[in-house]
Amino acid sequence: MKVLGINALYHDPAAALVVDGRVVAAAEEERFSRRKHGKRPLPWSAWELPELSAAWVLAEAGLTPADLDAVAYSFDPRLMPSPEETGLHNEGDVMRKTYAEKAPSFLAHYLPGLSEDRVRYVPHHVAHAASAGLAAPYPTNSVLVLDGRGEAVSHLAGRYTDGQLEVLASQALPHSLGLLYEDLTDHLGFLRSSDEYKVMAMASYGKPRFAAELEPYIHATGDGGFRTERIDFTEFAPRLGKGDEWTEAHADLAASVQLRLEETLLDLAHWLHGRTGDSALTLAGGVALNCVANSRIHAEGPFEQVWVQPAAGDAGTALGGALSVATDLGDTTAPMPGADLGRGWTDEEIEAWLATAAIDYERPHDVADAVAAVLADNGIVAWFQGRSEFGPRALGHRSLLAHPGHEANLERMNNVKGREQFRPVAPMVLAERASEIFGRGPIPSRYMLFVHDVHPDWRERIPTVTHVDGTARIQTVDRAEEPLVARMLECFERRTGLPVVVNTSLNTAGRPMVDDPRDALECFGSAPVDLLAIGPFVVRRPRPTPR
Ligand SMILES: [Fe+2]
Repeated sequence: MKVLGINALYHDPAAALVVDGRVVAAAEEERFSRRKHGKRPLPWSAWELPELSAAWVLAEAGLTPADLDAVAYSFDPRLMPSPEETGLHNEGDVMRKTYAEKAPSFLAHYLPGLSEDRVRYVPHHVAHAASAGLAAPYPTNSVLVLDGRGEAVSHLAGRYTDGQLEVLASQALPHSLGLLYEDLTDHLGFLRSSDEYKVMAMASYGKPRFAAELEPYIHATGDGGFRTERIDFTEFAPRLGKGDEWTEAHADLAASVQLRLEETLLDLAHWLHGRTGDSALTLAGGVALNCVANSRIHAEGPFEQVWVQPAAGDAGTALGGALSVATDLGDTTAPMPGADLGRGWTDEEIEAWLATAAIDYERPHDVADAVAAVLADNGIVAWFQGRSEFGPRALGHRSLLAHPGHEANLERMNNVKGREQFRPVAPMVLAERASEIFGRGPIPSRYMLFVHDVHPDWRERIPTVTHVDGTARIQTVDRAEEPLVARMLECFERRTGLPVVVNTSLNTAGRPMVDDPRDALECFGSAPVDLLAIGPFVVRRPRPTPR
């Protein structure tokens, strides 16, 4: 069966293609449209569809819309209550529901040849659940989904057995851990539905001194669900505007809400384990991008394995929706092969881009060692290799790399990316070396969705990637899966004695991650990056002539 998955209604529009139960391609619309998150999650943008990414996933597989057996749309308007019934009183929902009902005809417009009756609605949280439970390498697993909202709920707890989902609990709106965290994001002067990870980073600077006071407002209910009541955050710290300086009280508020979130998630994990007794837990939904909470679930929760969908936000519902419908149609699905499900180019194609740009480039004997040499010399490298990543993390395909041994490189990287200085940058490390340097979190940690402690004797050696609380959000690199990245790490260690490299996403402030060679050249041209390694080629930044 050939199933196209579409996420469109709220944010992070994306498309995915599943053929005979296997994920063939998946991409977020932002990588094509060059608009971060694809669009703002406004009611009147709900009709916008991931037309460019949908066309690409089909082209990648050599299919036309007429070849599709089904299109999975990761939201079911038939399940959507009125604004009064959800308790959110969001009048925009009426418009959203209308657009979701019209989605089949809109899709048929953008995908000529597609028959409207091929479009199937998949409940939002079922699509999230499938993106974890069917994509993870565990045939039987317990699954937890937590996000801002779907049609009528904000949570699903269930179990996958042989590809079939049994739903065990769900939490009705208006209670929502995701919306609560979004409200706090907004209160702290950041962009709602986008900057939640900044709140998590800020929390590590604070003390959770308001957590006990907040417990009545954020807590699990012992029946698989939870409560989130409206909180007047101004009672704890004044509201901030964009770019305003935050104070200790703001960091303490962030730390307190973060702690209540973690405790609630732990309670939900314990409840679910009590029902299933499974060894593996899979997670999806935007809340599952909270790697600090994921680490507590791993360290203190009852499950032996915790697997998180790398595109845990709504983009992942394109993938999960397609997997879910493929199962409904009788296919047996396979775990996702990795997060590198986006666009890639042959060496010849890349060379043609470089020739078109009329730019000097070289083909070194070994691009991995050429990169390691520049990194060892404290240069910054834009690394563009293979297919782009699905989800928000750079995993060694569209990455910005640097030396981890110089404290000043944190500020330097944040300046290159135009980010706030309190934001950490993350390390990549060979999987077999990780436990020498990092502890507590799960190893391997392939998708950068957990935080680890940096062993005390390593903190001084890799200060760029050691966060203020002594942690790091690591990516472990498997030699068999990522031979080129592994070789680059080895070459860097040979030159510096450090088996770790700084890895952050290849983009500049407010822009989506680089996806195609033109994006890479534009980014390289406009940011103080010393070397662009693109396929087997390198482009060096000429040293400025002294004035
Ligand atoms: Fe969602």
